[in-house]
Amino acid sequence: MISLELDLGERSYPIFIGTGLLGRKELISPYIKGKRALIVTNEVVAPLYLEQVKASLDGIECDVIVLPDGEHTKTLDTLTLIYDQLLEQRHERSTTLIALGGGVIGDITGFAAATYQRGVNFIQIPTTLLSQVDSSVGGKTGVNHPLGKNMIGAFYQPQCVIADTDVLASLPKRELQAGLAEVIKYGLIDNLVFFEWLEENIEALLAGDKDLLAEAVRVSCSDKARIVAADEKEGGVRALLNLGHTFGHAIENGMGYGVWLHGEAVATGMVMAADLSARLGYISWQEAARAKTLIARAGLPVVPPENLSAKDFRKLMSFDKKVQGGRVRFVLMREFGHTVIESDFDASLLEQTLEAKEHLCQQ
Ligand code: NAD
Ligand code: GLY
Repeated sequence: MISLELDLGERSYPIFIGTGLLGRKELISPYIKGKRALIVTNEVVAPLYLEQVKASLDGIECDVIVLPDGEHTKTLDTLTLIYDQLLEQRHERSTTLIALGGGVIGDITGFAAATYQRGVNFIQIPTTLLSQVDSSVGGKTGVNHPLGKNMIGAFYQPQCVIADTDVLASLPKRELQAGLAEVIKYGLIDNLVFFEWLEENIEALLAGDKDLLAEAVRVSCSDKARIVAADEKEGGVRALLNLGHTFGHAIENGMGYGVWLHGEAVATGMVMAADLSARLGYISWQEAARAKTLIARAGLPVVPPENLSAKDFRKLMSFDKKVQGGRVRFVLMREFGHTVIESDFDASLLEQTLEAKEHLCQQ
């Protein structure tokens, strides 16, 4: 097992990565402060892993809520179901919420924990590649609004993250691919060595090689922990973790939540960011094409949806959380393997990116 630390002073916490972690009582129990817990999971994950997690909570009075599956359920209505159960079963402030599932479950549970009785402890047990490499780490919690992705939420850190890489074996291939989008993101943000490692290993990762997947989770969590420790509330450098997300969130929302997976939308968003970076002369067209090629090799979409026009994108992107003073800010590649945040550039170049579709990253 690998243990990383997210260093946030008194709110620091460990990220455990390895195999066979789900059933390990000694791993989880130090992070449950009271005598009660509520496991929040969904109808897909519960039949696979709930019993193992419950077994590790021997001695804790443990309730369970099994939610419906899917991004479209990441709403205030679903959150209310969790509050209802907590109140009906008289959970007090000393309770611990345990998120067992992918990013949807993690984000909703974290927000429920942040807000129930003004804040109770929670533990992340991420079960998708995407949630292991990204959403379970760093304390962003929340739900979607019909007008914008993740628009209602809070920064709220878990007590610990338990990423058992064995659970990735049951993940559908499309979900593994979606997780790889966020993995590739770390390479492009500021870790060229990792990007090159991914170029060498992408097919083996797609085939589910356990050791390589564990290494990808380790490097991703280590990079994320470093960035979040430097800027927990996204006043600066943390916004780089949103590479591809301004375009991506527009795709997710514009197509209807759940039609494109989050990772798929981020993948195409990163191709659009690479294209815009090349138009600005920051990276070469060959480098932009190199980013697009790895994303395509991971089985991810590299062409934005035909039915989302440039006008649709502009409207949807105006709801992005990085908008400041009415200006949309983009994470761009200032060099290949080095990103920056910018809003002040020739708008006609953005227009060209929004129009390029299948010609993205081609001069
Ligand atoms: P998800 O939670 O919808 O999970 C994907 C699918 O896999 C679901 O059908 C789920 O039931 C299923 N599943 C989960 N674990 C499984 C397993 N081990 N075996 C088989 N099936 C399994 O999606 P996701 O990709 O994990 O997360 C996407 C969400 O995460 C989005 O809402 C996105 O906004 C959010 N996110 C949040 C952050 C953050 O920092 N908080 C970062 C990135 C993404
Ligand atoms: N997924 C972006 C962040 O955690 O900041």
